Amino acid sequence: MSIETSNCVAKQNGVCNKFPYFTKGIIVKGFGRGSKELGIPTANMCSEAVKSLPENFDPGVYYGWAKLSNNPTVYKMVMSIGWNPFYKNKTKSMEVHIIHEFGCDLYDLTLSVCVLGYSRPEMDFNSLEELIKEIRNDIKTASDNLDSEEAQQYATHCFFTPDSNSS
Ligand SMILES: Cc1cc2nc3c(=O)[nH]c(=O)nc-3n(C[C@H](O)[C@H](O)[C@H](O)COP(=O)(O)O)c2cc1C
Repeated sequence: MSIETSNCVAKQNGVCNKFPYFTKGIIVKGFGRGSKELGIPTANMCSEAVKSLPENFDPGVYYGWAKLSNNPTVYKMVMSIGWNPFYKNKTKSMEVHIIHEFGCDLYDLTLSVCVLGYSRPEMDFNSLEELIKEIRNDIKTASDNLDSEEAQQYATHCFFTPDSNSS
């Protein structure tokens, strides 16, 4: 499976010239804490997608759109990039929380994402409850930002159409 990654610099998108960033990759197993401990499942992107991130993608929380290979719907998403300081991970990860309830595992599907903005840096927390509260806040912020007309345009971008997504 080839990973197609492109940094389409939109000179007039008014956000920041590293957005939108388009990438896709296979969903792999993480530690499983997202579903079990946080009640906020995340799709962990394969190492190829993590390695292809541009250098100017600082660790932190991002938002944008996501689409699974078995489903034509483009969903809102929030994404965490980094080492999860609360859990002190040893490996950098790129985890996408799709703002939708699937009720099943998404392993081995290909996830296409369009990243439109940065919300905040990764943080450590004193308790699991504080981490969950902050992620819930990230989800609300992302959802509100993605309601803008400017962001909505990318939900129908040709990147998400089957032909441009077939590799
Ligand atoms: C929107 C969002 C924000 C996150 N912010 C942080 C953070 O600030 N600090 C942190 O340690 N982990 C953060 N995480 C990562 C969670 O700790 C991680 O999703 C959880 O450990 C599950 O990982 P796992 O699927 O590998 O088990 C964030 C995750 C998401 C989806």
